[in-house]
Amino acid sequence: MRWRWLTSAIGSAARRLLLLLLLLTPVICCFSDEGGGGTTDGAALLQFKREITSDPAGLLSRWTDSGGEGPCSWPGVSCDGRSRVVGINVSGRGDGDASLGSTGSDPATRLTGRLSTAIGRLTELRVLSLPFHSFRGEVPGEIWELQSLEVVDLEGSSISGVLPGRFPGGLRVLNLASNRIEGEIPSSLSGCVELEAMDLSRNRIKGTIPGFFGDLPKLRELDLSFNKLGGRIPGEIGDACPSLEHLDLSGNLLVQSIPTTLGSCKSLRALLLSSNLLEGILPAEFRRLEKLQMLNVSRNRLNGCLPAGLGSCRALRCLDVSKNQIGGRIPQDLGLLGSLVWVDLSWNKLQGQIPVSFGQLKNAEYLLLAGNNLTGEIPAGLLQSFSLKLLDVSSNHLSGEIPKDLFSSKDISVLGLNSNNLSGEIASSRAGKMRSPSVFSSSFNHFSASAAQMNAIQRTADATPRYSFLQSSEASSPASAPAKKFTSIEVAAIVSAAAIVSVLLSLIALYVYTRKCLPRNAVQSSERREVTVFMETQVPLTYENVVRATGYFTGSNCIGSGGFGATYKAEVAPGVILAIKRLSVGRVQGIQHFHAEIKTLGTRRHPNLVTLIGYHLGEAETFLIYNYLPGGNLEKFIRERSKRPVDWWMLHKIALDIARALKYLHHRSNRILHRDVKPSNILLDNELNAYLSDFGLARLLGNSETHLTTDVEGTFGYVAPEYATMCRVSDKADVYSYGVVLLELLSDKKVFDPYFSNYGNGFTIVSWAGMCLQQGREQEFFTEGLWDVGLHDDLVEILNLAVMCTDAVPSSRPTMKVVVQRLKQLAPPTL
Ligand SMILES: *[C@@H]1O[C@H](CO)[C@@H](O)[C@H](O)[C@H]1NC(C)=O
Ligand SMILES: *[C@@H]1O[C@H](CO)[C@@H](O)[C@H](O)[C@H]1NC(C)=O
Ligand SMILES: *[C@@H]1O[C@H](CO)[C@@H](O)[C@H](O)[C@H]1NC(C)=O
Ligand SMILES: *[C@@H]1O[C@H](CO)[C@@H](O)[C@H](O)[C@H]1NC(C)=O
Repeated sequence: MRWRWLTSAIGSAARRLLLLLLLLTPVICCFSDEGGGGTTDGAALLQFKREITSDPAGLLSRWTDSGGEGPCSWPGVSCDGRSRVVGINVSGRGDGDASLGSTGSDPATRLTGRLSTAIGRLTELRVLSLPFHSFRGEVPGEIWELQSLEVVDLEGSSISGVLPGRFPGGLRVLNLASNRIEGEIPSSLSGCVELEAMDLSRNRIKGTIPGFFGDLPKLRELDLSFNKLGGRIPGEIGDACPSLEHLDLSGNLLVQSIPTTLGSCKSLRALLLSSNLLEGILPAEFRRLEKLQMLNVSRNRLNGCLPAGLGSCRALRCLDVSKNQIGGRIPQDLGLLGSLVWVDLSWNKLQGQIPVSFGQLKNAEYLLLAGNNLTGEIPAGLLQSFSLKLLDVSSNHLSGEIPKDLFSSKDISVLGLNSNNLSGEIASSRAGKMRSPSVFSSSFNHFSASAAQMNAIQRTADATPRYSFLQSSEASSPASAPAKKFTSIEVAAIVSAAAIVSVLLSLIALYVYTRKCLPRNAVQSSERREVTVFMETQVPLTYENVVRATGYFTGSNCIGSGGFGATYKAEVAPGVILAIKRLSVGRVQGIQHFHAEIKTLGTRRHPNLVTLIGYHLGEAETFLIYNYLPGGNLEKFIRERSKRPVDWWMLHKIALDIARALKYLHHRSNRILHRDVKPSNILLDNELNAYLSDFGLARLLGNSETHLTTDVEGTFGYVAPEYATMCRVSDKADVYSYGVVLLELLSDKKVFDPYFSNYGNGFTIVSWAGMCLQQGREQEFFTEGLWDVGLHDDLVEILNLAVMCTDAVPSSRPTMKVVVQRLKQLAPPTL
């Protein structure tokens, strides 16, 4: 992707250079005069080679003792003056070119196998550089015991396990990026005072970021991005950071504010904190970062104003603060940053005018201001001196005439102006030369659509030389935007209504023949027939009128059945429809407990919870009364999804609705655990609002025998491993189930999909998601069409979120509160 370009250009090039320099310094390859330790080193290397199961490119083919030359002549092996092996350098990516990105290695050159413990016998080894292979298993403890080891580079393999409790004291470079390392960052690293570069990005590291990184005087690069780190960014990092040039903590779950102390890391060139849950303001102290080239704090929850003074970060080339909640005006002095190539302030709450000083951003190629509350006119001359390729000011409140010179810019290839109150006309003499300005009609008009996508939209735009950008202010006001979108959803709902009705009919027909719904012989009349209601209804509810409205639980009114019993539709008065869940638990045990428990459930009111209206508890008959939702359940929705075009906005909304409901249940006093989150327990109305049902029933009815047998079977696959095997219940078990539902919503696979049969027993959608992420094959995971309509970065992050929710270790799963926050951040922009 284009946006990645800058990151790689500035980030990777510098980092690779650094790494290369570090690698080269200690390794001076000399030819031997005599053997000694060299022979045993050779034997160790051959043992290492023997444990490689596959070497398709023959990288180690010349590692043999037949030539009699010894290991010092083998490719990738370096020795010291005494013929001892001091370096192994065999990359799975032949040219060592970093511009390919971390997944750019060719499977045909990768070594496969385990890292041999024999490496631990190379007692003089200083450099172990084996990046971009497919090593499995853990790094043998023997390697961490090597006292001379200075550089470990095992990037891009499949290495698992945790970081060791002890590191070689002289370690300078540790690169284990893109592996499967778990556990926390060990405190033993604090003893590595020589550490210059550490890259643990794209692993599964959890816990918090230790403060001791601020005590490592030589640390130049610290990359912990895309892990599962939580907590705050320790301010101690900034206490002593004379050397720190590159700090990347993106893609974690970091909270609270950005420590102002980072402003004293004077050497910083890249500060990347995007995609976390950071709050507070962008510290004004950042103005002291005179070498800073790249500042990316996008996708957080930063608020306040943009600090004045950033104009003194003269080296800044890339500024991305998009998708936050930053308000106030755009500081004039940003226009002083002549080196800025990329400015992204979009999707914040910025007000006021576009600074006239922006006309001085001579090197700016990408200027993204969409989705703010900017007013006034587009300054004339904005583009005059620009090398601008992309300008997006859409979804603001800009007014006035479109400056004439906007279209005279030959370079500009994408122009987003829609959802404003602009008017204008283009002189016909110019119309021939310029490319047609785009009036984005896509509902996801947003900068993150790739330039190619935008161009495509642009090409389809009306090319007549006269344009009217007049739009009513109501149409462009943020408040009315969701409503506009809503109508399109409604249209979709109406279109699919016919399908839903026909499916309902066939369901009913089906259930007539199933036993579950056949009425139990008779509704007994000898018992007390009391109905307890928790809320007012249009018609008074009595046992009689409820049961009669179900047709005495007749099969034709059965609308679903689950572990606890069948649910019936009951029209108690014309137009007043309820859903009656007839509990099939037999005799309820602990009647007092039941009454108390169900009252708690009855007090829970949330827009995304099915409302428990009342209940009846009797000797032979027990039922719960809920509001009726006509849209069927999510299981059906997923099953029938292929019949309509994928709407990312809609899928996201369902995911968020359910997350909100669970958050509500979990994060209140007197917490309720659902224990049975699955698609069939998620109901929809005709506007595709989602509602969680059956909450709390597992606890309410958990003691009865029938429930256990039917229900555990029914939800197998959604149940968290610790719940299934050890019956350890916690809110994190609900988070797991939610994660599975989210995965099903995103993918076109079911939790146990026939597709997975090739992968062996126990392979579920959870394994599939992890595999796709690990191998960079995210696109394959998503249901057909989703990848084309959603923003790729957002989709991958939601996938990451779902994978975190389904972590085998409960404590590694985020809380529902965090899930909701994250989903909100990743919301498709509303026009
Ligand atoms: C900033 O970070 C986000 C998420 O990591 C990424 O998607 C975006 O492209 C970055 N911005 C720039 C300008 O590189
Ligand atoms: C390691 O080998 C690659 C080629 O395989 C080479 O480009 C790189 O410079 C080598 N690094 C060192 C430190 O020798
Ligand atoms: C936009 O800015 C105006 C003041 O310029 C303010 O009254 C209005 O509330 C803002 N709208 C939003 C959505 O922030
Ligand atoms: C939109 O622009 C027109 C003139 O360009 C102006 O008369 C009108 O007041 C503007 N509407 C709003 C809501 O700013």
